[in-house]
Amino acid sequence: MSHKSLLVLLLITIAIATESPALQQLRHKLESNEYNSQLVDMLELSVAGGQIDRVFELLQKMIDDLTGQINSANLEHASRMAAFQLSIEQLEANLAQLQNEVQTTNRKIGEITQSISTLTSTSVSIKKQLETINQKEEQIRNNRAKEIQSVETKQTAGQKTLETLEEIHDRLVKAVLSNQGSFLEETEKQEIIKQVKQELGLTHPLALLLDLSAKFDELTAKKAIELIEQIIASIKEGQQFREQNQTAAEQNFNSLINEVSILREKLGQDNQKTSSTLKNKQNDLKIAQRRNKQLSLNQENTQQLIETTRVQKDLYDSNFRSNASKREGQLNSLKTAFQILRDNEQALKK
Ligand SMILES: *[C@@H]1O[C@H](CO)[C@@H](O)[C@H](O)[C@H]1NC(C)=O
Ligand SMILES: *[C@@H]1O[C@H](CO)[C@@H](O)[C@H](O)[C@H]1NC(C)=O
Repeated sequence: MSHKSLLVLLLITIAIATESPALQQLRHKLESNEYNSQLVDMLELSVAGGQIDRVFELLQKMIDDLTGQINSANLEHASRMAAFQLSIEQLEANLAQLQNEVQTTNRKIGEITQSISTLTSTSVSIKKQLETINQKEEQIRNNRAKEIQSVETKQTAGQKTLETLEEIHDRLVKAVLSNQGSFLEETEKQEIIKQVKQELGLTHPLALLLDLSAKFDELTAKKAIELIEQIIASIKEGQQFREQNQTAAEQNFNSLINEVSILREKLGQDNQKTSSTLKNKQNDLKIAQRRNKQLSLNQENTQQLIETTRVQKDLYDSNFRSNASKREGQLNSLKTAFQILRDNEQALKK
């Protein structure tokens, strides 16, 4: 702008003149720089051209133009600085929000981690309980099998004893009924004693009774029969008792197994529920961690953007100040030139 005006000054000036005192004064007064030296050169040519009023007019116009430029540059500067400030404030608000979100997410991650730890130990405990209950069931089944085996053995042995005793009983009864004299043969007696000892043991009262009787007479036989009948009754009672006891034992076994199954089913459900909750929590954790990573990245970018914007703002402001000071200097030169020419107007018009 000012260069164009200087050019106009140059164009309306044709003659070349020697330097007037006013211009000498001006050259002396103005700081020496390119703009000022061009200004003085142009003024010199213009003044030499003799159209002093036109020179004032043009100088005034240059002053007005530059003042206008300064004003509009100031306005532009204010508005751009405000825009920079607004950007920075917005970015800072974003940053604060991001920091908030990071905190919230961190808290959430902490909660989820706590849940996962609790759920994991719950899961471990449930699995241990399941293992224990399975072992317990196995033990119950083993015990029951052993018990059945042992009862069966006892019942079989009891049955065999019964059969033997019944046979001896029958033989003794038959002997008592049919024989009044010599009674039992010695060999038969020995065989009976051997059988009794085998079935009831060497020291069983019946064995002793038969063994110790000097005479195996009818009276002894009758006593033996009576004793055998008592023993048979007692064995039968025992057999019956064991059978009944086994019915109760079987019921007890079934109810234990039932309890175990119910407990296992419940533990199984708990296990499934815990595992699925755990899986969900682990998924939540992954999502929250991913979110936090993204937030941290955004935070970093925003921080950087704030820095960049601050640097741009400062750079713009310092450029503006340097331009403004240049413009102020030019305006002062123009005003000084105007004043000095005005002070010397009469001399210049001659
Ligand atoms: C009856 O059954 C119970 C439980 O099974 C057992 O402990 C007990 O020894 C049994 N009694 C007899 C006499 O078999
Ligand atoms: C300063 O002046 C230079 C040269 O005229 C210009 O390119 C730049 O945009 C100006 N900067 C400001 C901030 O006014």
